[in-house]
Amino acid sequence: MKRYELIARDIAAMIRNGGMSTGERIPSMRQLRRDRGISPGTVRRAYELLQDRGYIEALPRSGFYVTSFWQTAPPGPGISQPVARSTSPDVAELIFLVLEAMRERQLVPFGSAFPSPTLFPLAQLGRQLAETARELDPWSTVEDLPPGSIALRRQIALRYQRFGVDVVPEEIIVTTGGLEAINLSLRSVTRPGDVVAIESPAFYGYLQAIETYGLRAVEVPTHPGDGVDLDCLAGILRRHPVRACCLMTTFQNPVGALMPDEKKNRLVKLLGTHEIPLIEDDVYSELFFGTERPRPAKAFDHKGMVLHCNSFSKCLAPGYRVGWVAAGRFARTVERRKAVSTIATAVPVQEAISAYLRRSAYERHLRSLRRALQEQQRCMLKSIQAHFPGGCRVTRPAGGYVLWVELPPSIDGSQLHRTAIERGISLAPGTIFSPRREFGHCIRLNYGYPWDAKLEGAMRTLGTLICESNAGSRQR
Ligand SMILES: Cc1ncc(COP(=O)(O)O)c(C=O)c1O
Repeated sequence: MKRYELIARDIAAMIRNGGMSTGERIPSMRQLRRDRGISPGTVRRAYELLQDRGYIEALPRSGFYVTSFWQTAPPGPGISQPVARSTSPDVAELIFLVLEAMRERQLVPFGSAFPSPTLFPLAQLGRQLAETARELDPWSTVEDLPPGSIALRRQIALRYQRFGVDVVPEEIIVTTGGLEAINLSLRSVTRPGDVVAIESPAFYGYLQAIETYGLRAVEVPTHPGDGVDLDCLAGILRRHPVRACCLMTTFQNPVGALMPDEKKNRLVKLLGTHEIPLIEDDVYSELFFGTERPRPAKAFDHKGMVLHCNSFSKCLAPGYRVGWVAAGRFARTVERRKAVSTIATAVPVQEAISAYLRRSAYERHLRSLRRALQEQQRCMLKSIQAHFPGGCRVTRPAGGYVLWVELPPSIDGSQLHRTAIERGISLAPGTIFSPRREFGHCIRLNYGYPWDAKLEGAMRTLGTLICESNAGSRQR
């Protein structure tokens, strides 16, 4: 951890343990600087982080105060406890049914997998696309075969270098979205019947891929705070013939976990000693609420064993379907898989995104998107606090746009999903994130849409449905 993160962690722990109470003024920046002998920049960043996490707020010309918000917010869920056997998932059909039910535009989109399209610079991108298509070198449409547009791969490599990760354009393969990057990676490092380690709960896209390719899943206990339990993972690697590990180290979907750097490093080392490739899905990494973009596990990989998958779907261009994988030593295998599966990703969209990335507008857009998502998270948490019954536990991720809610154990999330759809509200039931349809009393809620009276009303309805179902189960 960096110095400012350590200081923020200490202060947050003090607030949580009751060492400082709501409304209390915390030491001024100057005082903390003097007490701890640290630089002004370190104190400022520590306080910014505490503000981002909702522990403190700044009152103009007065100082920083402990908020009431975090104390009354429901507590976060604990670590998951999956069974220790590997499974052949049988959930693809269920997932299709649930996703199908969420597609209607008139539904309140708490079940959606994307942020609101209105938060993206689609008009600018559209103009860029038109201009790029007009000027496109006709030969590029037949020459830009896998690994993909060199201009785009250079832009992507530059971004890696900006946040301290040594990736070169030669190891990047452009794909049709992040999901194709994950699928190609899985198929490049496994054969049917192999065992893949995943988080518990895990993004349903991995479950569909594992089922489709005839693989088996072994689940690793996952904490909503800092991700998979590495001691448990080490035990699993000793007991199971794991051939690949597929997980998210930053803003995990659905629980929002963020692994600290030190843990990412240990993860890479642990898998490295067993020669197991890590398929790292990092599609939410640009959506951080802190001051710095979290580094991926790929930053700690010196053996080329991490296949780092990402896309522009969640942060810039939903619908353009442009993603990539920085595949390390597996780059050539993935490239061939890509050529066999779809020949290439559409050239005009690759060139348009590459042109857009060369402009400073991208950073401006990201800053405003992060601010919007953070504010929307605050609204949704507040709404959960106001409308959901006691006994609910909810995550509070430091980025991304989904919350994981553990409802009272008697509540059936799938039934709630069906009733909510009838009332015009979608949500993602917990069972679609588990190969064994566990997490039946959990739901994932999307806060990627600008908050308004309609969303607040839908949260109230959802809270009422949960309360009714809770009361019903008590009577039974
Ligand atoms: C965790 C995670 N990984 C990958 C994807 C797929 O990304 P893309 O839309 O770029 O294919 C999604 C989309 O929902 C996701 O939530």
